[in-house]
Amino acid sequence: MKTKIIKIHPKNMDKNDLEEAARIIRSSGIVAFPTETVYGLGANGLDPLAVGKIFQAKGRPADNPLILHVSSLEQVEMLAREIGDLARLCMEEFWPGPLTILFKRSSKVPDIVTAGLDTVALRMPDNQIALALIELAGLPVAAPSANLSGRPSPTSFHHVREDMMGKIDMIIDGGATGIGLESTVLDLSGEIPMILRPGGVTIEELRPLIPDIVFDPSITDMDGEIVPRSPGQKYRHYAPRAEMILFEGELEKLVAEINKRIAYYSRSGRRVGVMCTDETEDLYREALVISLGSREDERAIASNLFYSLRRFDEEGVDIILAESIEGSNLGSAIMNRLKKAASGNIVKL
Ligand code: TXA
Ligand code: MG
Repeated sequence: MKTKIIKIHPKNMDKNDLEEAARIIRSSGIVAFPTETVYGLGANGLDPLAVGKIFQAKGRPADNPLILHVSSLEQVEMLAREIGDLARLCMEEFWPGPLTILFKRSSKVPDIVTAGLDTVALRMPDNQIALALIELAGLPVAAPSANLSGRPSPTSFHHVREDMMGKIDMIIDGGATGIGLESTVLDLSGEIPMILRPGGVTIEELRPLIPDIVFDPSITDMDGEIVPRSPGQKYRHYAPRAEMILFEGELEKLVAEINKRIAYYSRSGRRVGVMCTDETEDLYREALVISLGSREDERAIASNLFYSLRRFDEEGVDIILAESIEGSNLGSAIMNRLKKAASGNIVKL
């Protein structure tokens, strides 16, 4: 398949440029587009055949449901059977933005979108290109992250091209995404309000509205046996091709242990990468060292994370030794992605 590429500047956007993309969506094709979190792989969310093409292009397991992206409240009313007060508050406060909310689904939502579940995940992205595309298409747009299943999510046009060239109809190059981690998935349908996937909106930001909010137990107990409620959370995800080990503990101990391991793995002929922070960057030798940013700046770390995982692969690294970071605010989403990238390969010091 020939993949058309168009470049659009979000600040200086001509809606005519997006007409063609909207037409592709309306006629059951697939268009990759930028959002404020990561790039998405978009199709008509009401058309099971179009949605099927997304699963095929990504190689995504059929039991992993998709988020429908909306540009208006009317679309939410069409797709959700009921909208509770708390959900309304959250939409007012955080939309457009990196918060996905689960609703009881209406009969309009095809089975393939929800993988047969009774809930549908909805989100209004905070990106002018994404919003204009949904509006022009006049449809809810089903969109997972635009990576091949299992690979790190794409935070730039180049990542999307790497994974999707020749597999989809169009890629919109809208520059780098801002946040760099996916949206928070929030389930208000049960007795206890729960975050099923930590993301761009933090639990600290949600608490004033939802004082009793908790993380799904599988998130805080990742080496345990608890089955996550969000199907996507059970897969090895966000993963580089290289093996990755995540080190948790006091910073000084981390640095000492990682340096020991650099020497050890290098001796056996492996190319070693270290994923660290500005504070420790100069303390490592004889490895490909990439800093995600300062420990004081979680936003920088979040936005550099997936990009850095892909860099290690490009550089042909065999093993990545990664520092853990503080788990509060955006840190919990960052640690969630790091743990998954490491496939549970965690060393506690
Ligand atoms: O920021 C984002 O959310 C990006 C951009 C493109 O919007 N999208 C994204 O989609 O990350 P995806 O498909 O990569 O991740 C969606 C997550 C998966 O873990 C999936 O299992 C979960 O949301 N999910 C979707 N519908 C669900 C449902 N009905 N119940 C529980 N989890 C659901
Ligand atoms: Mg994804």
